[in-house]
Amino acid sequence: MNVTVTRVFPFLLVVLGIYLWIGYSITELTDGGGEVNTAIDISPEGGEAIYWGKGRCFTCHSVGGQGSAVRGPNHGQFGEKFPMPMGARAAERAKERAEKEGNDFNAVDYIVESMASPGAYVVKGYKNEMAVVYAPPISLSLKEIKAVTSYLMSLGGDLDMEAIDTSPSEITQAFYSKISAAAEAGGGDPGAGAEVFEDNCAECHMLAEEGGEIGPALDGISAKGLKFISESILQPTKALAKGFETWVLIDKEGRQSIGLKSRDEAAEVDITKANGDVVTVAKTDIKEMKIDDTKSVMPDDLSEGLTVKDYQDILSFLMLQKPKTE
Ligand code: HEC
Ligand code: HEC
Repeated sequence: MNVTVTRVFPFLLVVLGIYLWIGYSITELTDGGGEVNTAIDISPEGGEAIYWGKGRCFTCHSVGGQGSAVRGPNHGQFGEKFPMPMGARAAERAKERAEKEGNDFNAVDYIVESMASPGAYVVKGYKNEMAVVYAPPISLSLKEIKAVTSYLMSLGGDLDMEAIDTSPSEITQAFYSKISAAAEAGGGDPGAGAEVFEDNCAECHMLAEEGGEIGPALDGISAKGLKFISESILQPTKALAKGFETWVLIDKEGRQSIGLKSRDEAAEVDITKANGDVVTVAKTDIKEMKIDDTKSVMPDDLSEGLTVKDYQDILSFLMLQKPKTE
């Protein structure tokens, strides 16, 4: 069973709201310039604030008796199912892994991996449905991920700030590099995103000369930034692309056609509906024709058919659609 965006949609909106509210600029992420959110300390306290705040970890995880979410494992010591808090548990899991793979996998590696590649090790009894926390709408920076790691290590573990921050192991460093690179590209998996695009968007949008013509071509769309693209999907009416406004035409018999004005000539106009049907109406038959800026021909319930992962994947796919430099 997939957790569809419907179920987490209110959550997404809240997160998006908070994130717009604090004026957190996604362009800083995509530019790769400057430290985002310098107010956060890389410390267990800083990480705790993120865990119960921006990181949204608490929407799926609890810590002992704190919190009530059960979709992910409890990060504290809790009942028989969780005999060890996360820091100690990470050391235990890392030891098993190191023995199996014959490497030096350590507790920090384990916790960082759970965020860098949530699918790499799926805790028994749970589904592979942990969010990519460095992708929208959560968008943690590397610094924030380090802070959260120190918080989880402080729960019964051997807290070593150097291993987390200044001199990470090779394995952790590789995850950090992956996180930085992926965050710049939107955080998801662009290959999977291409398929999601094909199934949900290509009927209306062209890319590299292929696809439908109902919506604007999306070549070079990355130039508009991650925030713009994610809003276009979640709230299509927020900013209607120029030339793609929604027209409502009522003819003299009272019939209504809603869609894009795809042709406007002296004698007649064409309205292209969202399903691609074209309605041609003679100008002499038109009673009323106006733009409705509260509607987009792009469906606003697209997110209902997408999982959070689909959404993150499609964003990273679109972030790779760079403008051509001739
Ligand atoms: C959408 C729900 C969701 C969110 C949000 C989420 N997680 Fe998870 N997490 C899970 C699930 C489900 C699992 C178990 C499956 C797996 O191992 O991937 C898990 C597993 C983990 C594990 C491994 C636990 C263990 O017992 O070994 C860690 C560590 C973890 N998450 C940390 C975090 C942190 C830190 C955040 C916030 C920055 C976070 N998660 C946000 C769902 C979530
Ligand atoms: C039924 C047709 C239709 C489908 C399906 C559709 N769109 Fe759209 N899309 C439009 C139309 C029409 C516009 C222009 C009006 C607007 O901005 O809302 C648009 C606008 C956009 C924009 C803004 C483009 C710009 O330059 O301003 C983006 C980004 C976008 N769509 C992405 C997507 C993605 C991603 C999907 C699939 C998940 C998708 N669309 C599915 C019709 C569609």
